[in-house]
Amino acid sequence: MSKAPVDSTVLGIETSCDETGVAVYSSVRGLLAHTLHSQVELHAHYGGVVPELASRDHVRRLLPLVHLTLERAGMQRTNIAAIAYTAGPGLAGALLVGASLAQAAAYALKVPALAVHHLEAHLLSPLMSSPAPRFPFIALLVSGGHSQLMRVGGIGDYALLGETLDDAAGEAFDKTAKLLGLGYPGGPALAQLAATGRPGRYRLPRPMLASGDLDMSFSGLKTAVLTEFRARALAPQDKADLAAEFQEAVAEVLVGKSLAAAHSTGIRQLVVAGGVGANQRLRALLNEKAALRNVAVAYPPLEFCTDNGAMVAFAGALRLAAGSFARDPGPPVFTVKPRWDLESAAAVASE
Ligand code: KG4
Ligand code: ZN
Repeated sequence: MSKAPVDSTVLGIETSCDETGVAVYSSVRGLLAHTLHSQVELHAHYGGVVPELASRDHVRRLLPLVHLTLERAGMQRTNIAAIAYTAGPGLAGALLVGASLAQAAAYALKVPALAVHHLEAHLLSPLMSSPAPRFPFIALLVSGGHSQLMRVGGIGDYALLGETLDDAAGEAFDKTAKLLGLGYPGGPALAQLAATGRPGRYRLPRPMLASGDLDMSFSGLKTAVLTEFRARALAPQDKADLAAEFQEAVAEVLVGKSLAAAHSTGIRQLVVAGGVGANQRLRALLNEKAALRNVAVAYPPLEFCTDNGAMVAFAGALRLAAGSFARDPGPPVFTVKPRWDLESAAAVASE
């Protein structure tokens, strides 16, 4: 008779930027509960994230969210097997809020505290869907801080294939949105405006599309939009057309580079993760072009594209199952890593 698998339940905490996310993930039953508090309204007034305000709001929100999430999951804290938290990269003060709560609670409960790499959590998040994509796969990680193509051979086996040389794709969306006078956060606002515009009326460059490698560049696109913007007063339809062309240019570059990565590695499975992965035009273009090349594409559910606690709890559960963590948690002495490259995440997570 085969033994039933052990049900390990992980509490996940995300506080790397402007979302307080908490979740409970069971290795047998899947995601039991997740909650999210977005600070969008808090920062909107400033047109971007104010780090100190972000930290203070995490302090206010995190503990009540942990209690609420455990209650929704029907879990006693004493039944938690481990606490996973985003240890970096991100805003130092914001990271410290999640890290200190996770470490202190783990110490009190005598369970491991798992330091999760934020990008690892993003890139593993499509595995929460079923059927889950299989290793190896190419991950396109496109968020406000990163634009990278990674070869993912398994949990902790990440090789960087290419990345942006300047702005991240999400950053380019945000900056261009600001230029066009749209609200914060810029990505969704620009995508909404682009839906009413016609790509092709303006002609923006497709930076580095033909560079022959897998690196990218997005800062020139923003400058090209600025040039159009300064040339003459733009009517609302002009702005929508410019937004549509900008979105098309970013999508074409990301799709071109992703398929080039699939081609050069011979890997036929792509996963898309990070906030820009919520962009519907990017998804439509990628699905269309990938199908022509016989490449499968997987996305996390829309709500788990942008920052959330579920992906952190899930990455923690995978780490726990793989035994890739410090076995003796010891006293809660820890650091966060505001800058942290993903390829070294495997080693650091088990420090
Ligand atoms: O992954 P994420 O939530 O946070 C980071 O780790 O950066 O990504 C946030 C980024 C922001 O730049 C935001 O403008 C962008 O993702 N974003 C979008 C969309 N939704 C979020 N960009 C384009 N289209 C969207 N629908
Ligand atoms: Zn993120």
